[in-house]
Amino acid sequence: MSGRLRLGVNIDHVATIRNARGGAHPDPARAAELAQASGADGITLHLREDRRHIQDNDLSRIQAATDLPINLEMAVTDEMISIGERFKPHAACFVPEKREERTTEGGLNVAGLHNQVAPAVSRMQTAGSRVSLFIEPTAVQIAVAEILGAEVVELHTGHYAELYQAGDAAGVEAEVERLRNASKEARKRGIEPHAGHGLTFENIAPIAAIPELAEVNIGHFLIGEAIYIGLEAAISKMRALMDQARA
Ligand code: PXP
Repeated sequence: MSGRLRLGVNIDHVATIRNARGGAHPDPARAAELAQASGADGITLHLREDRRHIQDNDLSRIQAATDLPINLEMAVTDEMISIGERFKPHAACFVPEKREERTTEGGLNVAGLHNQVAPAVSRMQTAGSRVSLFIEPTAVQIAVAEILGAEVVELHTGHYAELYQAGDAAGVEAEVERLRNASKEARKRGIEPHAGHGLTFENIAPIAAIPELAEVNIGHFLIGEAIYIGLEAAISKMRALMDQARA
């Protein structure tokens, strides 16, 4: 199953920096162009309800700036689905969203929200997008993702990243096992497993080594690291670490 692991680069926080001054610089469309030139396999964007980073008019500008597939993260709301239907991203990734959170704190509870998520999935599939569900790595969530007809599940690695940061070796091992089992379970059900949230140069290897995973999506760390070494170098280094972990 192990092949090349795709790297999706989330460029939301280029827009966060731009919005701090309300002007046009730095432009996330230029970051998308540069990410493509640096070996990224996809561009991920999250149009949040409060528009704290990516804005509506960024979507088409970013799409025009790159040939890479765009993965649009979106809340399960009529407003976002209507925008998604017009934008027709390569992939629509449904995520939970709370206004007060700093970032997406947990997976979407597709098991508990089946009746809300089902029409959202079919609307985006009718628009021609692949649907991805950002979930916790559990067998129940994956079973419901299959019932919902999702092509992809993105497994939330936020808990893994926190355990890693805390130096909890036993916790890290258990969480990697949970992510590995969830990746296998997804493949068994014909769903493509992806992973993301909180991934860094330091913690990427055990995740990249999971052979069933097809893609990781990484944002905050790469944009932060770009301040020191540049976006191109940050993406190239992450690419090299991912390849090393799979070798
Ligand atoms: N995947 C999903 C579904 C996300 O919502 C996010 C951002 O919260 C990421 C990946 C990237 O996470 P990070 O910015 O921590 O790399």
